[in-house]
This record gives sequence, structure tokens and C-alpha cells, in this order.
Amino acid sequence: MPVPPDTVLAQLKWRYATKRFDPTRKIAPDLWAKLELAAIHAPSSFGLQPWTFVVVTDPVMRKKLHPVSYNQAQILDASHLVVFAAKNPPTPADVEAHVAHTAAVRGETVASLDGLKSGLLGALARMDAAQAHRWAARQTYIALGVFLSAAAMMGVDACPMEGFQPDKYDEILGLKEKGLGSVVLATAGYRSPEDKYASAAKSRFEPKDVVIRI
Ligand SMILES: Cc1cc2nc3c(=O)[nH]c(=O)nc-3n(C[C@H](O)[C@H](O)[C@H](O)COP(=O)(O)O)c2cc1C
Repeated sequence: MPVPPDTVLAQLKWRYATKRFDPTRKIAPDLWAKLELAAIHAPSSFGLQPWTFVVVTDPVMRKKLHPVSYNQAQILDASHLVVFAAKNPPTPADVEAHVAHTAAVRGETVASLDGLKSGLLGALARMDAAQAHRWAARQTYIALGVFLSAAAMMGVDACPMEGFQPDKYDEILGLKEKGLGSVVLATAGYRSPEDKYASAAKSRFEPKDVVIRI
């Protein structure tokens, strides 16, 4: 069922990059599960989903991550921290897993997806490992965007965050050995009544400044 456009816009205007979360308020597990599903439903090139969402709620781990996130308060205070990690790099085994999964959920044979498989393997073969990781990383930003928009629709506050040291995150969370590299973060929870940014006017250019109509 479509959501009324004015409701969508109202929620997008309501959202802001939350600087101060109320540390006493946690996102209920049922709601969090739906937010995770929203990110999982993000589109990706060839549908490969070359990502893992690392959800960090453990306060001890969050304390370790705080200093390698430029001491930003959100890391400690938000209800949830999500590390959007990309396959580093995506491999032919990831392609096999994707093709097998797609065949299974669609009730088709793996052979019928040969075109998808060869397209993906060909795309990967044309990239070196660093390029393939960057390609996967771009996909994770789409998942971040879907997550942020879904959070806004569900009345959950969030902050996208690039202010962290990815190599340190990889080390602390053991991501390298899992074939992953951290790309971008989102913190989520509920705004503190003391966050002055919540009431700051939105600074956005007018459509005439950023839209070209042809
Ligand atoms: C990719 C990305 C990285 C960001 N990194 C941080 C960050 O590390 N810390 C922070 O407080 N805000 C961060 N922001 C929030 C932006 O500063 C904010 O979205 C922008 O100023 C627009 O404000 P608004 O989102 O409140 O409308 C980031 C935003 C994006 C999209």
C-alpha cells in the first residue's frame, strides 16, 4: 500500500543527523528487526548484496570503538550502532552463493541463471581486489540510504557516520578475517531533548539549483 507522499516528505523533514541520543531509550526488538529487514531489502548491482551489517549493542565493544570514531557521542549513546561492511573483495564464491539462493527462492534451476552468473563473474574479473571492494562499498551506501529513510518513516532517529577509522574498526571487530571491510556507520535510537540540531532549519538547495529538467 503506497504511503501518502506528504507523509513521506514530513518524515524526511523530521529526520536529521542526530548528534545527541537519549542514552536511556532503546529501540524495541520488534521494531529493530523491521529496520534490519529494510536495509536487507536495499537494491544492489546484479542483486549480489555484497555486504554485511554488523549490529553492535554491546556497551563494552562500543566503548572500544568510541576513541576510533573521533570520540563522537553517538557511538556510546545511541541504542544501536550498525557498521555497514562490504565484502573485501566480493569473490566468485559470493557469486555462486547468490545464484544458488536466487534459484532456490524462485524455484528455478541454477543453470537457468547462467546469464546472471557469467555477467557477475565477468564484472568481477575486470576489477582488481581494491576496485571490487570499492564497487561493493558503493552498494553499502545504498543500503545506508534505505536504512536511514526507513528509520525516518518508522519514527526512529539516526545518524549516518563516516567519522571513524575503518582499519581500526576492521581490527577491533575482526572483520578482515571474515573477508569484510567497514565502509560507513549508522547510529540509531531516539533524540535527546537537549540536541539543538533537532530544531535547526534544514539547509537544502532549492529544486531549481539542483535539478536539471530536460
Ligand atoms: C556519508 C555521511 C557521513 C556522515 N558522517 C557524519 C559523522 O561522522 N558525524 C556526524 O555527526 N554526522 C555525520 N554526517 C551527517 C551530516 O553532517 C548531515 O547529514 C548533513 O549535515 C545534513 O544534515 P541533516 O542530515 O541533519 O539534514 C554524515 C552524513 C553522511 C551522509
